[in-house]
Amino acid sequence: MTPPGFASTRQTGASKPRAGGPSHGAVCAAVRIEVARLPVPVAASYHAGAAPIAGAVTDVARTVPLVLAAGRGAKRLEAMNGRIINRTNGGGGGGSVILVTGGAGFIGSNFVLQWLATEGTPVVNLDKLTYAGNLHNLASLEADPRHLFVRGDIGDRTLVARLLDAHRPWAIVNFAAESHVDRSIRGPEDFIQTNVVGTFHLLEEARLYHAGLSGPARAGFRFLHVSTDEVYGSLGAQDPAFTETTPYAPNSPYSASKAASDHLVRAYHHTYGLPALTTNCSNNYGPFQFPEKLIPLMILNALRGQALPVYGDGLNVRDWLYVDDHCTAIRQVLGQGRVGETYNIGGRNEMTNLEVVKTVCALLDEARPLAAGRSYASLIQFVEDRAGHDRRYAIDADKIERELGFRPAESFESGIRRTVAWYLDHPAWIESVTSGEYVKWVAAHYGA
Ligand code: NAD
Ligand code: DAU
Repeated sequence: MTPPGFASTRQTGASKPRAGGPSHGAVCAAVRIEVARLPVPVAASYHAGAAPIAGAVTDVARTVPLVLAAGRGAKRLEAMNGRIINRTNGGGGGGSVILVTGGAGFIGSNFVLQWLATEGTPVVNLDKLTYAGNLHNLASLEADPRHLFVRGDIGDRTLVARLLDAHRPWAIVNFAAESHVDRSIRGPEDFIQTNVVGTFHLLEEARLYHAGLSGPARAGFRFLHVSTDEVYGSLGAQDPAFTETTPYAPNSPYSASKAASDHLVRAYHHTYGLPALTTNCSNNYGPFQFPEKLIPLMILNALRGQALPVYGDGLNVRDWLYVDDHCTAIRQVLGQGRVGETYNIGGRNEMTNLEVVKTVCALLDEARPLAAGRSYASLIQFVEDRAGHDRRYAIDADKIERELGFRPAESFESGIRRTVAWYLDHPAWIESVTSGEYVKWVAAHYGA
């Protein structure tokens, strides 16, 4: 069964792991489904064809302090066609590969697409394909030899060790997580398993791998952990925004599990010298976001004429950042961030939920007007509040702006317009994530 948007998806092997082989062995070149015939789930497809390291530079141990001031940084980025990372890995046997975990989810897939369009160096993408992981997001990479997809769990140490050994990445970028607060309230266990235990296992393997490196490969290795502003807890209306030194005060099982993983990352740097970096970002929005989160849920419900459920009084505040800007910031931190540091990432776009929902409605009124001048805003319904609902998040992004020259490219006005247009232009994607088709497809191909 081929899902919509996967016209040339091809399955060339059995969907179950080999008997006696690793517990996970499904490996996809780009999004082609090719189950590994080797005991080690390696398909070196990113080596095929043209040099995948096009444009990569020579110095491993040194990262060029690329963007020190906004003006200079902008010029420099232009000169590099958007590339930020300026290094190659001279050791470790692999060169320029990075390992991305959770790269089939919302932010991870945007990151992989942006990475290949800008940095252009190979990506091994390890993702468990939970309900939130979606290979449709990566359909445009189907024929791209620089992308290697591996279905698996960050907590599967055997698999992670084999991937590190086989691909010798110079960086691990960890997006893999259970990410939805409402789900964490209903059932916290998966959050503890993946966000805490899974990150712990990934860190253990990263530590062992890093310990086995030497010279420039060791000096150049990075572990970047993608985290959230929710670890800092909830702000009052007049409180200053979260800085990197704001004490952790997580309030939901989700944010507590992310906080735990952040502490583990910190400890692995402090105790073992793992060259780790942590980013704490505000609310993202943009293409490929699963429609359980506020903005895509509102768009989809509105288009179906269904109620737009706003929790409580709708006056909770979030600080919104377009997903591409988050991905750019992560590349900047990976390339120029100081090892052992944390960086807050945000767009200085604080809005109440009600303002966000009304903005979405206004854009839909413009693009898909309802009959008789009715507004989509008439579908808004105030519903019971989320348990323990954090009132306000706000990011003080001074550090990343000052040290790395980060500036979001999108304002909320431009980003939300692009986002609404993207959902209107991608009915097949919406259908695939809402009809259960995708979930059935994963089950059929992987036997999960
Ligand atoms: P998402 O739920 O859309 O995607 C998570 C991905 O991780 C999915 O592809 C899923 O299949 C994969 N995954 C889950 N468990 C896994 C496991 N055990 N092993 C391997 N893969 C696994 O999440 P997202 O919104 O893209 O968030 C990505 C990361 O960014 C998360 O760590 C999240 O905490 C963080 N973050 C998200 C936001 C936001 O607004 N969405 C903001 C700040 C930080
Ligand atoms: O701040 C970063 C975090 O942002 C990330 O770490 C999380 O992974 C991500 O899910 C997001 O968490 P939120 O809980 O802020 O996002 P969500 O889209 O679920 O909700 C945004 C706000 O909208 C929140 O105040 C709850 C409210 N809401 C949400 C939904 C789904 C509603 O009012 N109605 C809804 O139906």
